[in-house]
Amino acid sequence: MLYIGVDLGTSAVKLLLMDGNGAIKKIVSKEYPLFFPNPGWSEQKPEDWWTGVTEGIKELTAECDKSQVAGISFGGQMHGLVILDDKDNVIRPAILWNDGRTQKETDYLNKTIGTDKISKYTANIAFAGFTAPKILWVRDNEPDNFKKIVKIMLPKDYIAYKLSGVFCTDVSDASGMLLLDVKNRKWSKEMLEICGISEDKLPKLFESYETVGTILPAVAKELGLPETVKIVAGAGDNAAAAVGTGTVGDGMCNISLGTSGTVFISSKKFGENDNNAIHNFDHADGSYHLMGCMLSAASCNKWFMDEIIKTKDYAGEQKGITEDMLGNNRVFFLPYLMGERSPHNNPDARGAFIGMSMDTTREDMTLAVLEGVAFGLRDSVEVARKLGIKLERTKICGGGAKSPLWRKIIANVMNLKVDIIESEEGPALGGAMLAAVACGEYASVEEAAKKIVKVIDTVEPDPAIAERYEKQYRKFVQIYPALKDIYTVIK
Ligand code: XUL
Repeated sequence: MLYIGVDLGTSAVKLLLMDGNGAIKKIVSKEYPLFFPNPGWSEQKPEDWWTGVTEGIKELTAECDKSQVAGISFGGQMHGLVILDDKDNVIRPAILWNDGRTQKETDYLNKTIGTDKISKYTANIAFAGFTAPKILWVRDNEPDNFKKIVKIMLPKDYIAYKLSGVFCTDVSDASGMLLLDVKNRKWSKEMLEICGISEDKLPKLFESYETVGTILPAVAKELGLPETVKIVAGAGDNAAAAVGTGTVGDGMCNISLGTSGTVFISSKKFGENDNNAIHNFDHADGSYHLMGCMLSAASCNKWFMDEIIKTKDYAGEQKGITEDMLGNNRVFFLPYLMGERSPHNNPDARGAFIGMSMDTTREDMTLAVLEGVAFGLRDSVEVARKLGIKLERTKICGGGAKSPLWRKIIANVMNLKVDIIESEEGPALGGAMLAAVACGEYASVEEAAKKIVKVIDTVEPDPAIAERYEKQYRKFVQIYPALKDIYTVIK
C-alpha cells in the first residue's frame, strides 16, 4: 500500500509518497505566501494551504497506482490560530507560530494569572507564539471576529478537516496551544475558562497514529483517490520530524534546522520541568517530549544569502569557510530576526552582528550566521542538560541539515555526535509513517521507526574544534543580556 505524508510548513507544503516498506517514492513541494502585516506579525491564508495540498497530492500521485493509496497523515507547523465561523468559512488569516504580537496577552497569562497556575494546568508557560495568547488577542482586538468563532484549530487540522470533515487534532500539536493538560492528554477546563472559550469550539483529541475518519467522497473524486483512504490525526511538525528521524523512545534527540530551529528530546515519562524555558509536550508515539524552539534558524541563513548577499548558491558561499576558521570567528551573530522563544521568551529581541572590523570578510559573516544559530540551539541543549538529561548524540533534519559545514558546526558547538539519516525529510516522512501505523502496516510508531529510519553517517565532534567552540559559546551567552534593554529602545 502507499501512504502520503503532508508537511504543512511555513514556506511551503511538502508532500511525500511512501510505500509499505518505508521507501520514499516521490516528493513534491508547493510554496505559498507568508504575510508580515506589521513588524513581528506573521500570517498565512489557510485557503492557500488547501490549494497547495490538493495540487500537491495530484502531482504526487500522478504516476502511481492511486488505488494503492491507503492513508494520509501530517506534520504541521505548530501553534497557528485558525478560526472558522458557523459556515466553516475562515474568519481571518491564520496567526502563525512565529508571530510576536501577543506580548500583552502572554504577560497577562504569565504574570496576572501566574506561571505557577499556567504551568500546573498545562505543564508549560505562555510564549508569544502559542495559541492561547492569540485567542485572547483576537478577543481584545477583533471582538467581531471573536464573536463569530465556532471552531478553533491548528494549521494541519484545517487540512484534515477539509479532507475528512472531522473536526480533530492530535495531542502533540494540541500541546502547543496552551489549552491542553499535557500530562493527562485532555483539554484543560481551567485554561478554557481563562481564555473564555467552551470545549465544543475545540477539536476532538486523538493520538497522532489514530485514524480520525475517511476521505470525503467529493474530495476523493477531485483528487482521484479511493474513497477508502484513511485520514490519520498526524502531529505537530517537530513531533512528526522526530518520528521521521527515529527520535522515539527514551532520551533520544533530534535537531531540526528549518525555518525554526528545534531541539527535541523524547521521553517515556512525563517530565517535571520547573523553569519551563523549554516546552513540555506530548509526543506522537504516545509518550512525551521536551523541546526548545528558536524562531529563526535556517531562515537566518536564507535571509543572509537571499536578501543581503543576494545569492542562491548557499553551498558556494560556504566553500571558502575553512576548518581553521571554526571556533575562531571574531564576528558573532544573534539569530533573533523574529524575536526569540527558547529560552529568552522575548518577541522584541532582534538580530545583530557584533565584532566586525575592517578585515572582516564575507565568509566571517556567513560563518557567524551559521554559528549564531548553532549557539542559539545550544541554549536549549543547556536547559535540558541542567534538567539532568544526558545527551551523547542527536539526529538532524530540515533544509539546513543538507549543509555538511553546518552539521559539523552543530556537532562541535553541542559536543554531540550527529547522526545523519538517509532522508532529512523529517515531518513529511513522519507523517507518512503515522499513516502507515494507523493502517496496520506497523504495530507501533516505535516499530515503524526501527524498521524505516536508517542512519547513514555520523559527524563526530573534533576535540580541538569543540574546545574552541566552548569558549566561543561562553562569549555568545553574554551578548544577549548586554543588548536586551536596547531592544525596547529601538522598538
Ligand atoms: C515549535 C514551533 C516551530 C513550528 C515550525 O514550537 O513553533 O517549530 O512548529 O513549523
